[in-house]
Amino acid sequence: MEAIISLKDVCKEYTRNSKVTTEALQDISFDVFKGETLGIVGESGSGKSTLAQILVGLLDASKGTVKRKGSIQMVFQNPVESFNPRRTLEYSVGEYLKNKGIDKKDIQKKVAKTFTLCGLKPELAKKYPHQVSGGQCQRAAIARALIAEPDILICDEATSSLDVTVQKQIIDLLDELNDNEGLTIIFISHDLSLVEMFCERAIIIKAGRLSKIYEKKTNYIG
Ligand SMILES: Nc1ncnc2c1ncn2[C@@H]1O[C@H](COP(=O)(O)OP(=O)(O)OP(=O)(O)O)[C@@H](O)[C@H]1O
Ligand SMILES: [Mg+2]
Repeated sequence: MEAIISLKDVCKEYTRNSKVTTEALQDISFDVFKGETLGIVGESGSGKSTLAQILVGLLDASKGTVKRKGSIQMVFQNPVESFNPRRTLEYSVGEYLKNKGIDKKDIQKKVAKTFTLCGLKPELAKKYPHQVSGGQCQRAAIARALIAEPDILICDEATSSLDVTVQKQIIDLLDELNDNEGLTIIFISHDLSLVEMFCERAIIIKAGRLSKIYEKKTNYIG
């Protein structure tokens, strides 16, 4: 299988006045394979978000190497807070294309198409973040990530602020995107049962160290 991201002996130290305050990650090595759904599980403070930021390139590792062979986008925990309250969803979702100099008509078309892909009625694009439900807003956040046509989507506690039913709907959407669009998904959560349900493979981190790689057993039916 082809590795789309490869981490080797990654360490991350947070420092203050050039003194190390936290060894957030220590000697983390693993590969992310093209087309897989990979879970990252650990309790609060174990280093999941630090790892996510290193994977996406928002943070540099203090030691070790990160090789990426694909483009990455990220979806965060609080959908409403992740949007500019003064802009319509269409503006925020389409901003990436606007920055690329694409014209308004084409942006509107692409936003409508991506909304539909994410299970949202295109009319909702005219609304502001506070005018839609949490689940709809998180779908819009996924649309905003997908509009950049990434190879990999990292979801950092992306369903944690949603109620259980909506959480399941978002997971079903991610599952569809993985099946139909071949999107590689890294799903970060403190909830092992949720990760077990959705991911083919999961990495368990404890206090900044990789403690286990869990693989879902294949069910052979008939
Ligand atoms: N910017 C920062 N500066 C200093 N220390 C930090 C910073 N960000 C995180 N830490 C520390 O690094 C460790 C790992 O934090 P991180 O946010 O990666 O954990 P997490 O697993 O995502 O937690 P949660 O489940 O609560 O989101 C914690 O001890 C945290 O206090
Ligand atoms: Mg976190």
